[in-house]
Amino acid sequence: MSAQSASELLQQQHRDIDFGIQGAMDGSSDQVELLRSLDLLRAHLHLEETVLFPALEGSVGLSIMVMEREHGLMWPLMESLAAACRGGASLESMEGDLDELFGLLQVHNPKEEQILYGVADEHAGLADALAAARLPEGWTCKAVQGRRV
Ligand SMILES: [Fe+2]
Ligand SMILES: [Fe+2]
Repeated sequence: MSAQSASELLQQQHRDIDFGIQGAMDGSSDQVELLRSLDLLRAHLHLEETVLFPALEGSVGLSIMVMEREHGLMWPLMESLAAACRGGASLESMEGDLDELFGLLQVHNPKEEQILYGVADEHAGLADALAAARLPEGWTCKAVQGRRV
C-alpha cells in the first residue's frame, strides 16, 4: 500500500510546483530549483494523463478533455522555461513565461482538485499505480502529441 492517497500525492505535487515557480518569480530561488519544479510538472502531467485520467474516464470524461487541453497550453511554456534554465538565462528574462504558466496553474489546479482528485480516492489501487509510474524519455502530453500528428 502506498503511504499517501492518490489525491494527497497529486495535491502535494501541485503545491511543490507552485512553490518552485513562485520562488523563481520573486527571485528567492534559482534556475536549478526552477528546473526541478518544471521536471516535476512534466512528471505530474504524465501521471495524470497516463494513470489518473484513464482510471476516471467513465465518470468525468468531459472534464478530462478540458484538463488535457489546458496541459497543452502549459507544455510550450514549460519547455521554453526549461530550455532557458539549461541555457543559463536570467530569471528576469523568464518573467513573462513564468507569469503565464503560474496563471494557467492557478486556474487549472483547483478544478482538478475539486472535480477529479476527489473521485480518485474511490479507485482502489490508484495510489500505488501513481507511485509506481515512471516518466518515459521524450514523453509529451496528449494535446501536443495530437499537434504533431
Ligand atoms: Fe493537470
Ligand atoms: Fe494536476
